[in-house]
Amino acid sequence: DTPFLVDRFGRVARDLRVSLIDKCNLRCTYCMPAEGLPWLKRAELLDTEEMVRLIRIAVEQLGVTDVRFTGGEPLLRQDLVDIIAATAQLPSGPRTSLTTNGINLDRFAAPLAQAGLHRVNVSLDTLDRATFRELTRRDRFDDVLAGLDAAKAAGLKPVKVNAVLLRGVNDAEACDLLRFCVERGYQLRFIEQMPLDPQHGWDRAQMITADEILDHLGREFDLTPHGAERGSAPAERWLVDGGPAVVGVIGSVTRPFCATCDRTRLTADGQLRSCLFSTTETDLRGPLRSGADDAELVRLWQETMWAKAAGHGVDDEGFAQPSRPMSAIGG
Ligand code: GTP
Ligand code: 5AD
Ligand code: SF4
Repeated sequence: DTPFLVDRFGRVARDLRVSLIDKCNLRCTYCMPAEGLPWLKRAELLDTEEMVRLIRIAVEQLGVTDVRFTGGEPLLRQDLVDIIAATAQLPSGPRTSLTTNGINLDRFAAPLAQAGLHRVNVSLDTLDRATFRELTRRDRFDDVLAGLDAAKAAGLKPVKVNAVLLRGVNDAEACDLLRFCVERGYQLRFIEQMPLDPQHGWDRAQMITADEILDHLGREFDLTPHGAERGSAPAERWLVDGGPAVVGVIGSVTRPFCATCDRTRLTADGQLRSCLFSTTETDLRGPLRSGADDAELVRLWQETMWAKAAGHGVDDEGFAQPSRPMSAIGG
């Protein structure tokens, strides 16, 4: 009996990613159809107390040291500040972070920092207002910039920016995005697009690869390997023009990092996933609502992680996308 989340390959999950809500206020073309998705119903979502109980079990009984809140768009969750405050106040003091599209972050950055949130990752794929409107189907570019400013002002550090490049849409902007982030002290990471969209529109041949991204950046910047221990981080990092600025590339598809994965995932409706690409889930909400004690939930969580696959299998013959889209898993 170990008090940890260990799998058959000896990996230990210390990083819990919690999707708080599946809804979003943007409609990025690579993530959601214009009409949205069949959202989870209120009663299906874990409530504040249920969420906090599961996070507490992970942190206090299963060795989780880092908790990341995602969505959908987590700022749409009414009780976000309460959940973060409760997490930050757990005795073992986990590190907390939030992945957001930045809309409303101008209002929430200060209260979130006050509640004990340590840092944020903000998604921003383009610096062009018209491209932003096309790509996200919403005219909210300025809101994201305001959110980024507010995050920095609130002392959420480091502020990371996530960008997915799409061929013919924003791939010519790689260097502009990096310059923008370097000037403002944000740590930019480029992400290879993964096959997790509900429209099943992912096309490997169209994906902008890590190699391509580095080629683009190399034309205007001098990149040298960051050197610091990578650990289980998805991002491979480089110093920009000698540093201290840093840029990352998350090459999930062409440079997979599953062998060092330390992540476990909880969805907004209380399902556990051992991997972003799991095709099965473990229901914790049912047991939770029918009176399971902590020991039972611990057992289910450990069993789920024990069964974690070695890798995402995107390159395997017969690979099938998980039925839940990225927006309902939390990335
Ligand atoms: P930090 O570097 O600790 O700030 O976090 P992160 O990069 O892991 O988190 P973030 O939510 O910003 O995710 C950035 C991208 O990495 C998203 O596209 C995620 O889907 C992807 N990502 C995060 N964790 C995993 C993972 O375990 N596997 C894969 N394939 N992608 C991941
Ligand atoms: N592949 C890779 N990244 C994705 N994101 C959303 N969908 C995908 C996908 N299919 C990104 C978002 C956000 C981050 C959390 O994940 O753009 O920046
Ligand atoms: Fe971990 Fe799965 Fe992501 Fe690979 S794809 S790094 S195993 S969560």
